[in-house]
Amino acid sequence: MSKQVTTIEWKEDKLFLLDQTVLPNVVAYRSFDTIQGVWDAIQDMIVRGAPAIGVTAAYGMYLGAKSIETSEMSEFQKGYKKIGEYLATSRPTAVNLSWAIDRMIDFSQKNDQLTVDKLKEQLLEEAKLIHKEDEEINYKIGENMLSLLSDGCGLLTHCNAGALATTKYGTATAAMYLAQEKNWDFKVYSDETRPRLQGSNLTAFELHQAGIDVTVITDSMAAVIMSKGEIDAIIVGADRVAANGDVANKIGTFNLSILAKNFNIPMYIAVPTPTIDMQTKTGAEIPIEERDSHEVIKGFGEFTAPKDVKVFNPAFDVTPHENITAIVTEKGIVRAPFEENLKKLFE
Ligand code: MRU
Repeated sequence: MSKQVTTIEWKEDKLFLLDQTVLPNVVAYRSFDTIQGVWDAIQDMIVRGAPAIGVTAAYGMYLGAKSIETSEMSEFQKGYKKIGEYLATSRPTAVNLSWAIDRMIDFSQKNDQLTVDKLKEQLLEEAKLIHKEDEEINYKIGENMLSLLSDGCGLLTHCNAGALATTKYGTATAAMYLAQEKNWDFKVYSDETRPRLQGSNLTAFELHQAGIDVTVITDSMAAVIMSKGEIDAIIVGADRVAANGDVANKIGTFNLSILAKNFNIPMYIAVPTPTIDMQTKTGAEIPIEERDSHEVIKGFGEFTAPKDVKVFNPAFDVTPHENITAIVTEKGIVRAPFEENLKKLFE
């Protein structure tokens, strides 16, 4: 893979996060050594993207464990659960957050025969394992996705489901990096992705830096590009996949799925299995985060609408499974009937 900036790094007993709020103009890292700091980093989107949020949460849970001052295991376990509940409130939609928190709590409960100090050390190892696994998972997603594409293709993506949203490779972008390694001739269109502009600030930044042919379009230009026959596949990531295959992803993904149907273009969702939430039956049950109105009306520095106008700003939408061609995971490619076939993935 060509040179990439690192999103998440653990060193000097601290969590270093690439500050994604100042890209593409500034490449800067911020360090965190408290659970409160990690909560803020997730809430303020210094780190964002479902898998990156999961990995960050795992390290946050280690930092939280360190702050519990007791040598009594039962007291530690009680405090640890509370820390998990607190961290889970940082953002609601990406299920990787609660997945990572639950995995860390589960690990602590299964190892309660250790001393509290030893358990804390082991929790750091578990967080590092979650971090390492994310990279391996994304590579496999890339290989599976690549089997659905061909040399010369035109791709459209939305938001940032790239290396910046994960440990490495990204989910939606993994196949792009692998195609580049194979010297494929291909082109990527990146939706700007209003209101936070992850498609231009982040996806265009990382693909451009990697030397991949990327073109930024505003979200409203997608239909024109499709009508010109430029797009062979749409590839996006997900924040949560429900048991019936409905997909929550960045606001605007639903629109793309409708266009995909209209133009008969495959709509692929690239997801690691920790993003699949079999406890959530349908997309209607997925909590959708609503963010500050200023993201919409003051996103470019100055107000672009009356200050006190009503604003609706959901950060995510739900694409119904009927609009999805395939959900591509590290364990394989899942097609309809999604409910039945997603279940098989976990058997
Ligand atoms: O609000 P964000 O930037 O955290 O939203 C991110 C997305 O919607 C991504 O597309 C999704 O998390 C997949 S990341 C591999």
